[in-house]
Amino acid sequence: MEKCALVTGSSSGLGLEISKFLIDSGYTVFGGSRSGTELEHENFYDVELDITSEDSVEEFFETVREFTTKLDLIVNNAGICEMNSLSDTSLEQFEAHLATNTIGPFLLFKRLEPFLIKNETHIVSILSTAAKFGYPNVSAYNASKFGQLGFLESIKKEWKEHKVRFTNLLPGAIDTPLWDKMGSKFSREKMLKTSDFMSVFGFVINAPSTIQFPELTFLHKDGFIE
Ligand SMILES: NC(=O)c1ccc[n+]([C@@H]2O[C@H](COP(=O)([O-])OP(=O)(O)OC[C@H]3O[C@@H](n4cnc5c(N)ncnc54)[C@H](OP(=O)(O)O)[C@@H]3O)[C@@H](O)[C@H]2O)c1
Repeated sequence: MEKCALVTGSSSGLGLEISKFLIDSGYTVFGGSRSGTELEHENFYDVELDITSEDSVEEFFETVREFTTKLDLIVNNAGICEMNSLSDTSLEQFEAHLATNTIGPFLLFKRLEPFLIKNETHIVSILSTAAKFGYPNVSAYNASKFGQLGFLESIKKEWKEHKVRFTNLLPGAIDTPLWDKMGSKFSREKMLKTSDFMSVFGFVINAPSTIQFPELTFLHKDGFIE
């Protein structure tokens, strides 16, 4: 088998575009999501995954293990975002953000270690400017992404012996279905296009294997960072 990649949240938005890009770049891709994707390709495996469920993550890796024991690239991308003032944010909503955006990566990374290739595997996480800067009406999202960044910083040091690359991407707003799911009325004009995001992602993936991007922040030139 050629180079293997794992992509979480492959059914929509960035994860779907990333999966297509990687297939075109010669990777065999294992995509995980709850709803699955219409993407059909001999090098794409559409695997059911609910990142909030320990059993589901385990079953996901059992499926991947049937095909490969090594992963060249891991794209930690699955995530949710809803907008609400603090007073309108329910406990259930806050917990859902932590379950998907913080505990989800914890469950994922707990099973990743056996698949790492020393000196080679590249782990790319799609965080957000909201992992570093606070925004109004997204306290649950902010907390979950700050938490994920802290988790990744710890694992990066814990896994030093593996000499794998950790790249954390912190994009600003991108015009994807995420904003439709939120019912957002925000103008899309000051958002990056998915193609803008993909040009940065492609640059990162194709950079020499001696380079990692600990924190790459990027946004629309008229967008806001805080
Ligand atoms: N769009 C933006 O403005 C923006 C900006 C910065 C960072 N980001 C980050 O980029 C990532 C992708 O967002 P997007 O804009 O592409 O959103 P999207 O179109 O809504 O896609 C989100 C993906 O995450 C998956 N997902 C959600 N909950 C999941 C779960 N419990 N288990 C497995 N998969 C799950 C969804 O699949 P299913 O629903 O099928 O499970 C879907 O494939 C997220 O982490 C987001 O925080 C987005």
